[in-house]
Amino acid sequence: MPKRSFASDNNAGIHPEMIEAIRAANDGHVLAYGGDPFTARAVELIQKHFGRDISVNFVFGGTGANVLGLKAITKSYEAIICAETAHVNTDECGALGNFTGCALLAIPTPDGKLRAEQIKPLLHGIGVEHHVQPRVISVSQATEMGTVYTKKELKALADFAHDHNLLLHVDGARLANAAVSLKTSLKEITAGAGVDVLSFGGTKNGMMYGEAVIFFDKNLGADFKFIRKQGMHLPSKMRYISAQFEALLSSELWRRSAEHSNRMAQMLGSELSKIPRIQLTQPVEANGVFAVIPREYVQQLQKKYFFYVWDEEISEVRLMASFDTSEDDIRDFVEFVRKTVK
Ligand SMILES: Cc1ncc(COP(=O)(O)O)c(C=O)c1O
Repeated sequence: MPKRSFASDNNAGIHPEMIEAIRAANDGHVLAYGGDPFTARAVELIQKHFGRDISVNFVFGGTGANVLGLKAITKSYEAIICAETAHVNTDECGALGNFTGCALLAIPTPDGKLRAEQIKPLLHGIGVEHHVQPRVISVSQATEMGTVYTKKELKALADFAHDHNLLLHVDGARLANAAVSLKTSLKEITAGAGVDVLSFGGTKNGMMYGEAVIFFDKNLGADFKFIRKQGMHLPSKMRYISAQFEALLSSELWRRSAEHSNRMAQMLGSELSKIPRIQLTQPVEANGVFAVIPREYVQQLQKKYFFYVWDEEISEVRLMASFDTSEDDIRDFVEFVRKTVK
């Protein structure tokens, strides 16, 4: 079996610089629950990257970051608008509805992106007690379809949201991949685009675990410390998450790793598209490749290189590159696909 495959950026191990950061943090006693110097430095660094006057809060995982970040800014009779493909809608086992009480209004989109015109029809019931009240637009950057919102697209959504008394939440599990794809900074496509609340992911970009919930308006996050604790996401040994964020942001590791995984996805997409019976279904803009592979070959390919079928109906599969994907991994996989798919 190959050592690395393309099922998920979560299937990759931990970046060696992260292991080193964890090892270095593992020295003596420090205050728990975030009262340690690692956390102070990591928060400072995140503020340097995203803006000074923000609230930064570490949690264990991405689902927790989304659910708790959204819980902080909603009431149970409100609604969260998202793309049908959004992780909060498809892959969080209803956690958002369960913990917030909010309805999720999921909109079908061909490329994983939401647009303001699609949201307008959902706003007619505002002020009417029989209807849930839309309060947040939640988008994923990069999207679950491997596409990336431009800053202009995000800003248009933020402006639309604010004009209608809504907030813009970003699931940034792959924010680094998006920023690198757009050749911009983390700040430019978040604070700079009018984002209100962000789940800033580290796990898919080489961390062992850990995400940050960021409120760009501190008032929105005023109660978050209680919500996080009650939501079971206050890490007692926070220093190990903080040390990883420090490693991620202090030496451009976030950029190096995301640049690499994006480049590997480009190479994978371009090689696969040369195989006659394979069609890419989305532009490769971050670290994911989406392609239709004739159904009869999928299982055979999965036996050697496990990956997920994204849309059973059309036999569309998702292939992800990671910080540790190598050009040889891609060459070997593509060769196997070429031999298998006749
Ligand atoms: C877009 C997106 N958001 C959030 C997550 C976080 O999920 P988890 O709770 O597994 O860390 C994932 C993980 O697959 C994801 O793809």
